Amino acid sequence: MATATSTIPAAARPQVNVSQTKILIDGKWCNSVSGRTFETINPTNGEVIARVAEGEKVDIDLAVKSSRHAFDKGPWRKMNARERGKILNRLADLMEKNIKELAALETLDNGKPISDSLAADLPLAIDCYRYYAGWADKIEGKTIPINGPYFCYTRLEPVGVVAQIIPWNFPLLMQAWKLGPALAAGCTVILKPAEQTPLSALRVGELLLEAGLPPGVVNIVPGFGETAGAALSEHMDVDKVAFTGSTEVGKIVMKAAANSNLKRVTLELGGKSPNIVFADADLDAAVEGAFFALFFNQGQCCCAGSRLMVESHVHDEFVERLLTRVKKQKVGDPFDPTTTQGPQVSQEQFDRVMGYIESGKECGAKMAHGGNRFGKLGYFIEPTVFTGVEDHMQIAQEENFGPVLSVMSFKNVDDAIERGNKSFYGLAAAVWTRDISKAHRIAAELRAGTVWINCYDVFDAAAPFGGFKMSGIGRELGEYALHNYTEVKTVTVAM
Ligand code: NAI
Ligand code: MG
Repeated sequence: MATATSTIPAAARPQVNVSQTKILIDGKWCNSVSGRTFETINPTNGEVIARVAEGEKVDIDLAVKSSRHAFDKGPWRKMNARERGKILNRLADLMEKNIKELAALETLDNGKPISDSLAADLPLAIDCYRYYAGWADKIEGKTIPINGPYFCYTRLEPVGVVAQIIPWNFPLLMQAWKLGPALAAGCTVILKPAEQTPLSALRVGELLLEAGLPPGVVNIVPGFGETAGAALSEHMDVDKVAFTGSTEVGKIVMKAAANSNLKRVTLELGGKSPNIVFADADLDAAVEGAFFALFFNQGQCCCAGSRLMVESHVHDEFVERLLTRVKKQKVGDPFDPTTTQGPQVSQEQFDRVMGYIESGKECGAKMAHGGNRFGKLGYFIEPTVFTGVEDHMQIAQEENFGPVLSVMSFKNVDDAIERGNKSFYGLAAAVWTRDISKAHRIAAELRAGTVWINCYDVFDAAAPFGGFKMSGIGRELGEYALHNYTEVKTVTVAM
């Protein structure tokens, strides 16, 4: 059992003010055209936190019109690039000033432990804005020596009006990964936060205005995927759509882009990342790494190390040590600063994860720990470990997106590489070993966008992140993210 209190506080109601629940269009906060609202739920106790304006197709049309105008006629694209950087830096300063409030909003709406919101989500989001603030005046073209008496150069121009559809697992951070490079490049944006977690994005909308962002440069439309999200991805006047979420919806977004105006598409989708532990690794570090790789953020990470592969002759010892670590997980009220695991984000996700636990049991994996609902209120699940998991099992193939770790064993390097790559996904992977040549060889052989060696989930705004195979298209973060938000223009002059 997890060492938590067995009862979750009936109403985890911290002192956090929900200041904004409306739609941001053209620098003004407004109700939806229909007047409709939807509930955002506190996953700790299932209670309604607030009702939020529900954007639909008509609201999206208004937002796109505003972003189009801001791109074509507004100052944003043409202002000194350094000024754009200043506004992004001002946003980062304002987020820092309001860090406690933003962290509390994130924890309230998403359920993640407050210690994580404060130590990970907020600092990483703020750092991301600062990083792209620095890029704003460094987006440079080239001069190209072509044949003949010509001077040829390229300009990197903003791609235009961008739709950004983000998920609920890291609401503020995903907003930063999306807005940072788009704004640095001079694009204008319509952002749709996830319906489960709209509150922190709307608060950042207020801070963006305070930072001096011109009207229409960022419009924020909360609403559902099938309505607001779909309207964005099929809109004829949106030049590019950037999406993070399920592979299933990623395909829908890409189809919608193809069937409308061939808008540019970047996708950051699911994963089933292998975390490969060799017998020659620092096993203490590997145990901690394997634990963190899966259980961080309630297992709700696209890059979760959900296939833990352990070299066969240390497998049993490793599992024993891992279980000792898992038993220290403290499940409970996410506002308790000592809590290390909060609830899943929603009833839907809770049900989905419990379904995977059932599936693991049915296909004969061994339940080594957990497997049950935790407490009576909210969407808490015990940290769960299956051993004896085989490649063909559903829990080894599909993204579980919950605190459910599958442990399998492997024989040798070739086996690890072959089976590590046995997935439709290719988002991330990790390898734990003291043999540096082996580590680099495996890093080169694994078909994944990120490979961590003797570490896991090390993120930095400067390091590109994204997927091979069905984990997505394009890269976020780093200089590479700017490619998603720029068009290359070639200009040739007769000399
Ligand atoms: P989802 O893919 O449905 O939602 C992500 C975003 O897409 C949300 O903003 C949603 O409103 C929007 N969306 C949904 N349908 C849409 C449509 N037809 N057109 C345009 N936008 C649409 O993900 P969901 O249902 O919340 O979670 C299901 C599974 O997806 C999870 O269990 C997990 O496996 C995976 N997922 C992966 C994430 C990642 O970081 N790669 C994040 C969230 C979920
Ligand atoms: Mg969905």
